[in-house]
Amino acid sequence: MHREDFNILDSGIIYFDNGATTLKPKILAEAVSDYYNNYSSNAHRGDYGISIKASGMYEETRKLVCNLINAEKASNIGFTAGATDSINKIVFGYFRNHLKKGDEVLLTMSEHASNLLPWFELADEIGIVFKYIRLDDDHKVTIENVKKAITPNTKVISLAHVTNVVGDIRPIKEITKLAHENGILVLVDGAQSVPHMKIDVQDLDIDFLAFSAHKMAGPTGVGVLYGKTELLNELKPIIFGGGMNATFAHDGRRQYNTMPDMLDAGTPNVAGVIGFGAVIKYLENIGFDNIYKKEKELRDYAISKLKENPNIIIYNENSEAGIIAFNYKGVFPQDLAIYLDKYNICIRAGNHCAKILKEEIPVKNTCRVSFYFYNTKEEIDKLIEALNNPNIKNEII
Ligand code: ALA
Repeated sequence: MHREDFNILDSGIIYFDNGATTLKPKILAEAVSDYYNNYSSNAHRGDYGISIKASGMYEETRKLVCNLINAEKASNIGFTAGATDSINKIVFGYFRNHLKKGDEVLLTMSEHASNLLPWFELADEIGIVFKYIRLDDDHKVTIENVKKAITPNTKVISLAHVTNVVGDIRPIKEITKLAHENGILVLVDGAQSVPHMKIDVQDLDIDFLAFSAHKMAGPTGVGVLYGKTELLNELKPIIFGGGMNATFAHDGRRQYNTMPDMLDAGTPNVAGVIGFGAVIKYLENIGFDNIYKKEKELRDYAISKLKENPNIIIYNENSEAGIIAFNYKGVFPQDLAIYLDKYNICIRAGNHCAKILKEEIPVKNTCRVSFYFYNTKEEIDKLIEALNNPNIKNEII
């Protein structure tokens, strides 16, 4: 589906590492190149035509993101360098000032480093306590286990919507309902969900959401920080400089802009944000329901084929997203990835930045295939053929 939009696919590459970053359609390079070639200028600083155009295009992307996730209004959308940057800005710009010693944050063992390390840091800094919601036998979050983990001290639940190794889709709507009944805020890491399915922050009643453009056919170095208005009104900047201040004086008196400009300290990634806008229109045109359906078909097909090989151990057979974590018996995951590369097949091997997941699934490292809409069943057949090679161990050694 839409393979002709991706120049890189002409090389014959089979790209199954979409959880790490996706391929980029031609329209991204075209939009970025149009900006650099025809109206390269700073945004929000120039009173001349090309800068006014760049500012307009930058703000147009904000509206597109607002519409993409059905935020209340465009000013609820801030641009960052990526999901990691967004989570850090939420943890240190909001929660640092709203939590106190002994307050509890609920996390899970399958979170990415980006949604664990900021909390560990905050725990060291102000004495909050982090706890883990127990996962079920499929390494999933159940609402019953969230209920069990909540105590009178729980103030935040911070979790991925879809995890990057297990690929489970968390019941966010039920979680936010339960959380809000208990006066708890919910931060959702949408890095692996927003690119693949329709997300409605108002329907899901999400308090804060973070995601990255590069995992949804967009540029690297662009991310989104969404928050509810009343929370963003209390968000404080953690990066200071031009663009984010309204005024300052020699004695240090200063006033900072409110959202969304408050996040734009220094020249933002104007080219990237404009390119992201072009990509959002492109994805909307394909349709997120179609993207989700295609990935689900690919996942089901790949699982059925992988299961026919007795040497393959699958760790997340009952998950929903287009992510499959597996190992080949007796083969080190990185060696398998290098072997598959000989067949032009790109997968990711390792711990995938989810370094405490090994306390849940009993292996430190796995191989991971992760799909996007341009992948095909024929590509999966080539992966299966390479994995079914009777000489595989000899070729690896
Ligand atoms: N978070 C990215 C991944 O899962 C890098 O691969």
